[in-house]
Amino acid sequence: MMAYKSINFRNLPFGFCHFLLTILNSRRIEKCVTITYFFNKAPHTMPDPIERAADIIASAKRAVALTGAGISVASGIPPFRGKGGLWEKIDPMKVAHIDAFLDDPETVWNVLIKEMKTVLDKARPNPGHTGLADLERLGILGTVITQNVDGLHQKAGNSDVIEFHGSFAWQRCLDCNRRIETSRVDLAQIPPHCRCGGILRPDCVFFGEMIPPEALDRSQHMSATCEVMMVIGTSAMVQPAAGMPFIAKDNGAFIIEINPEPTPLTSRISNLPLLGGAESIMPRLLQAVRQRLASP
Ligand code: OAD
Repeated sequence: MMAYKSINFRNLPFGFCHFLLTILNSRRIEKCVTITYFFNKAPHTMPDPIERAADIIASAKRAVALTGAGISVASGIPPFRGKGGLWEKIDPMKVAHIDAFLDDPETVWNVLIKEMKTVLDKARPNPGHTGLADLERLGILGTVITQNVDGLHQKAGNSDVIEFHGSFAWQRCLDCNRRIETSRVDLAQIPPHCRCGGILRPDCVFFGEMIPPEALDRSQHMSATCEVMMVIGTSAMVQPAAGMPFIAKDNGAFIIEINPEPTPLTSRISNLPLLGGAESIMPRLLQAVRQRLASP
């Protein structure tokens, strides 16, 4: 180990350093060598991660995004975990589990669903969402796999959105299974009822429920066949959604993560973590991608 530490990387070209590090990493001494490399490398020669991400994205033809609550924070929707998160105030097992809903739909409607409706009614797409729609228009991004139920990717203009945890835009009758748009539900009576007399529930996945099989199958397929996966605003704590980046990585995709905080993916499989809010990173990334597409 000590012998490698004495290598002076500063005077070596970047490509050669990378080659050397790949070999050294394969000998399981990556931490020691990587630290040495970053200490020795002159700051002005470090590639800007956004520029690097733009290089990868601009040359990709099959990019997929996996998004979570963080992408909608700048639209005024609180996340679930972390500071200010919903699960800090309420226990998900008491209000977001299917058994809790079936036991006491009135409480779940009063504590969670009515509040969600108020917040989601006001929310508009932010530059994180519109940036993904722009990447679709540029022919780079195909599918967005989202854990969010807010419909903001569709509002921003993405045309292929897999709603992994369902959608809040619709309610479904527990008895006859009829679907009705949330905007048309009469909230004068809580819980609201279908015309058949059954209780309405959001068409979202509660804890304890299966992911809709079609959403799961397509997400797995898209993850296994993409060249680049952008993982944006998810803590990657909830399965099976958190497994998608691993499927992508196992099939050779390059993983770009956008999040102000590290996640369990960051040190394990992210090739390029971009630390920051999606609403500020995406416009800079888009600008850099456009510059590359404009110059032959
Ligand atoms: P979480 O609330 O678990 O994580 C939100 C992530 O967004 C965190 O990693 C934050 O660091 C990050 N974040 C915060 N602000 C951000 C910003 N401006 N830009 C980008 N990232 C930001 O949300 P999810 O990972 O989506 O499931 O949670 C997954 C699932 O757990 C949800 O779909 C929901 C929840 O319980 C169900 O209800 C079934």
